[in-house]
Amino acid sequence: MLKNALAGAAFAVSALVCSTAFAQTIGFSQVGSEGDWRPAFSANMQESAKDYGIDLKFANAQGKQEEQLRAVRAFIAQGVDAIIIAPVVVTGWDQVLQEAKEAEIPIFLVDRDVEVKDPSLYVTRISADFNLEGKLAGAWLAAESKGTCKIVELQGTTGSAPAIERKKGFEAVIGQFPAMEIVATQSGDFTTEGGKKVMEAFIKSTNNLDGICASFAHNDNMQLGAIQAMKEAGLKPGKDVLMVSVDYVPAIVEALKAGEANASVELRSAVGKFIYPVILDYLKSPQELPKWIVIPSDLHTAN
Ligand code: AHR
Repeated sequence: MLKNALAGAAFAVSALVCSTAFAQTIGFSQVGSEGDWRPAFSANMQESAKDYGIDLKFANAQGKQEEQLRAVRAFIAQGVDAIIIAPVVVTGWDQVLQEAKEAEIPIFLVDRDVEVKDPSLYVTRISADFNLEGKLAGAWLAAESKGTCKIVELQGTTGSAPAIERKKGFEAVIGQFPAMEIVATQSGDFTTEGGKKVMEAFIKSTNNLDGICASFAHNDNMQLGAIQAMKEAGLKPGKDVLMVSVDYVPAIVEALKAGEANASVELRSAVGKFIYPVILDYLKSPQELPKWIVIPSDLHTAN
């Protein structure tokens, strides 16, 4: 009996030692904490790292690329096992990724994309298809407006992958309808305050959104700011103007229920379960992976 108990205890201790020995240290350079989606994404990355036994070093760049470069260099100096980057903008990454390569630390992109001369500087990117999100928004609007619609557009952070690709995807669809056009477009930097300011400017420049049929916002938080601005101007978002955006955060779900928003494309924030198994497998046995592992996107409407 005593012998069995001792053997059991020894097994438990060796299992613990093994699992601790297998723990990996991963650095994660996050864009910032703008909007509602990104903090939810950060929380998921931090929480699910624990489930995978990962020691996650988290660095919030507060929307500044120079902070991200600093964080990545600090991770290299610490000798982490892998680095995850959600890049603020697409350009300016070649040098630091080269430094990581020389230090033999694999780089994984999450969420946003980069434009680099040498794609072997990162292993893979795990993210939704932003271009498809723009297309889904455009196709919904084309159907809803029967192909006739003057649109105001609230763009995300200038130079960021989601702002570039959501715009491209949306324009590719509405470009097929001669009576659909974007008549005003401006960046609200993915924030509620930015979206509110941009919509206030559109309300002024279009005589209270006269003749405007829709607002396409590259994220929900800008659309939520736009909704506030429209209500303050005595307009009825969701009724006077169709409101379509991306993320599907809880506040837009409420706006959809209240009839103040009409559609939102879901961007999943629970990304840990997609990215960590890929990184851990890679660290166990490094191999070439597809350059992009796509997380699905779906459109949600009020009904
Ligand atoms: O990169 C994804 C975008 O970044 C989200 O749609 C937006 O909310 C965030 O700021």
